[in-house]
Amino acid sequence: MNPDSSREPTRIFITGACDGLDELSAALSEHPEVEVVGRQEHVANAAAALAGGHLGAILHGTRRASLPEDELAAIREHTRTPVVLLASGEASALLEEALDADVADVLLLPQLTENVVFTARKAAHTGRRAPTGSSREHGRIITVFSPKGGTGKTVTATNLATALVKHAGKRTLLLDLDLQFGDAAIMLAIEPDRTIQDLMAAPGELDVEKLAGYTLRHTSGVDVLPAPIRPEDAELVTEPKLARLLEVARESFDVIVVDTSPFFHGPMLATLDRTDELLLLCGLDVPTLKNVRLSLQTLELLSFPPDRIKLVLNRANSKVGMKPGEVESALERKIDYEIPSDRIVPLAVNRGNPAVLAEPKADFSKAVRAMAKELVAAQAVAKQKKKFMATLARA
Ligand SMILES: Nc1ncnc2c1ncn2[C@@H]1O[C@H](COP(=O)(O)OP(=O)(O)OP(=O)(O)O)[C@@H](O)[C@H]1O
Ligand SMILES: [Mg+2]
Repeated sequence: MNPDSSREPTRIFITGACDGLDELSAALSEHPEVEVVGRQEHVANAAAALAGGHLGAILHGTRRASLPEDELAAIREHTRTPVVLLASGEASALLEEALDADVADVLLLPQLTENVVFTARKAAHTGRRAPTGSSREHGRIITVFSPKGGTGKTVTATNLATALVKHAGKRTLLLDLDLQFGDAAIMLAIEPDRTIQDLMAAPGELDVEKLAGYTLRHTSGVDVLPAPIRPEDAELVTEPKLARLLEVARESFDVIVVDTSPFFHGPMLATLDRTDELLLLCGLDVPTLKNVRLSLQTLELLSFPPDRIKLVLNRANSKVGMKPGEVESALERKIDYEIPSDRIVPLAVNRGNPAVLAEPKADFSKAVRAMAKELVAAQAVAKQKKKFMATLARA
């Protein structure tokens, strides 16, 4: 018996457009190892099939020479199914960018149909294993902290999480660890019917499925775990439970963005322990500067690795009698990211719509997007380094 005859065909959906896609679609429709569930050039017209189609892989054609981030983000609004990009023509930039993106594979057309079938099946297989498979890279934790209230932690965390989903295609959890007065949910106009406190109080072991049952999906695609509704419930979030939550979250998300309160309390220390990048927010005012300096000293005492700290100057362009260079001198370190003050930010906050979505062309949004991209690129380098060290250790 042919061993392949018992194999279930891989369900694929074809979106986008590129040279050679018509011929390929026709050939795939005849192939016994794949089932072409449908084809739509525009992702918006395929929403239902992508969301409910139980697909193994999506083949997305693009004529662009660079990564079609908006098209990938549109797909990610509906499904986590692995995406294989099909490109035609000159696509060397795309190949490079795809290494860091949420793309299972890239093929330059024309290709032998067998190659495309193999790639689609491989992507589907890896995608099925991904949530629990031991081979999957663990998600990275980006903690947004500042020792002063009102410096822009929640604005930064909500916009960064949104940019990571929309522009970097990352599966992102926004975790609100401002346990007493968290307002990540309200900044995203989410009315929480469940919060981190309900998750902590739920009986039984915390696992990936359970976490998924308590997160809330924002329209951008960000999953949110809101802070407790009442301040007195903050203490239910204990360090061991939070530690477990972070470990589980790393299994199912690429990035976990943690919004915090201006204190080094127990849960914050448990988070720092697992933090890959700490965005330390500073402003152009003397009290904040003084407290950021103290925080850097505290982080040193805690032996927090200095290379994981990224100094972010919010409202960097404010004319308030202090310049970014003076911040660098006072803190004896360089500023990693500058975010401008922008009136679109309070407007977006009051409308419950992140500025990166509401006003993508604003300077604020460009700065947050650039930061998101750089963080993703830095994470890719860190992962490669880790792999290299592991290979060396095995040799
Ligand atoms: N870059 C910016 N440009 C304009 N306004 C900003 C900017 N960043 C923050 N703000 C404004 O400052 C306010 C406070 O920001 P945010 O709530 O993010 O601070 P926070 O550090 O989270 O405060 P808390 O410690 O109270 O949680 C926001 O409502 C927002 O309108
Ligand atoms: Mg806040």
